[in-house]
Amino acid sequence: MGNLLTINGGKPLEGRVTVRGAKNLVPKAMVASLLGSKPSVLRNVPEIRDVEIVTGLLSVHGVKVTKDPKTGDLGLDPAATKSATSSEIDAHAGDSRIPILFCGPLMHSIGEAFIPDLGGCKIGDRPIDFHLTVLRSFGAVVEKRPGGIHISAPKGLTGAKLELPYPSVGATEQVLLTAVKAEGITELKGAAVEPEIHDLIHILQKMGAIITVQTDRTIRIEGVDQLSGFNHRAIPDRNESASWASAALVTQGDIYVEGAMQRDLTAFLNTYRKIGGEFEVDDDGIRFWHAGGRLKPLVLETNVHPGFMTDWQQPLVVALTQADGVSIVHETVYEERFGFTDALVRMGASIQLHRECLGSVPCRFGQRNFLHSAVISGPTELRGADFDIPDLRGGFSHLIAALAAQGTSRATGIEIINRGYEKFMDKLIGLGADVELSSAGR
Ligand code: EPZ
Repeated sequence: MGNLLTINGGKPLEGRVTVRGAKNLVPKAMVASLLGSKPSVLRNVPEIRDVEIVTGLLSVHGVKVTKDPKTGDLGLDPAATKSATSSEIDAHAGDSRIPILFCGPLMHSIGEAFIPDLGGCKIGDRPIDFHLTVLRSFGAVVEKRPGGIHISAPKGLTGAKLELPYPSVGATEQVLLTAVKAEGITELKGAAVEPEIHDLIHILQKMGAIITVQTDRTIRIEGVDQLSGFNHRAIPDRNESASWASAALVTQGDIYVEGAMQRDLTAFLNTYRKIGGEFEVDDDGIRFWHAGGRLKPLVLETNVHPGFMTDWQQPLVVALTQADGVSIVHETVYEERFGFTDALVRMGASIQLHRECLGSVPCRFGQRNFLHSAVISGPTELRGADFDIPDLRGGFSHLIAALAAQGTSRATGIEIINRGYEKFMDKLIGLGADVELSSAGR
């Protein structure tokens, strides 16, 4: 990809896109293959940067990763798993948070793991304290090393009674990937129950794991000595589906999202209808369109599943800048996820940020001086502007704002989008967007 995207706005996006496996599941499924005594096959794998990063990390640890040229299905063979040097790991870790999830599987297979300092979208502090606490509870020894941490299990790993202070997706995955082969029973209270968590549980169960999910966010895992391989089709990316749905609304367009699944988008679809968006569900996907007329403002609070997901917030905020009245968005999952609004305000949006919890329930950030609530007044006309892509979802929101805006916008840092949106440029052009990618920097 060049690093400058020129966007001529004002055209509705219309047509069809296909969404494949979830960015927030596929890399974790690839890591799970390390736990198996046999090769695994992962299907419905999108061509995104995060998959390349994990392919590199698995390869330096001796896992044979093959890709079917026609289907993109991945073969994952852990037979020759070995330790890797910190520089080898560093060379592949890139800007991802996935390396932290290698801990459990590597300790089970080679007794140790080195985790480089993590990257990921700049949407908050994103500490790993929950991860380290649960790993220590299994008996792991955590040592700080230059450029990262070294983790080992000199006495093996034993099941434990755990409770998360907040239903963290990553920490829940950490427990699942460690407990399945730990000695004895693990009980995790306060667990995350996102669709991606359930899909990971299905993969581990296919490998031979014994996992029970109770309705009160308690997950019970009975450790087993050996796991086999899996053959699994990854669930579709609900975040990409919701992003294209917002793009249809913002550009007054009409987009059929093949692969979108109602089951994983319930909270999003309710909100979409309340704003005035239309959708139609069929067995293969969901059609999203702007019904004409004015969009309606609303009060929105992000939350863990089954609430309104934080990754849906940024693209939908762009639609709220076009709603007829005042909307309020209270971000309760990440403390710094409104930085992207600066560029929207420069494009003509009216958005004020507040430190108070402007929602129905006070959240963790209430008393901590974070601008985590937004008041959006609309409708305001959007005008083209130049911007640098800040993070994955913030970047997508900037691009759909530019596609709706009058005039021309120029975007740099476009590579970030490739981390989570497959064939992004092809899809935009297929939907009739007037865009041009060039390598010339500004
Ligand atoms: C996953 O991140 C997703 N990323 C995120 O999607 C998503 O926003 C998030 O879950 C919430 O659903 C991937 O799956 C790769 P968390 P994760 O642990 O696991 C705090 C996108 O755009 N926390 O559930 O890193 C943390 O700071 C990305 O696709 C601790 O305090 O999220 C945050 O405030 C962005 N200590 C909250 O919990 C910890 O040890 C939720 O984080 C761990 C987390």
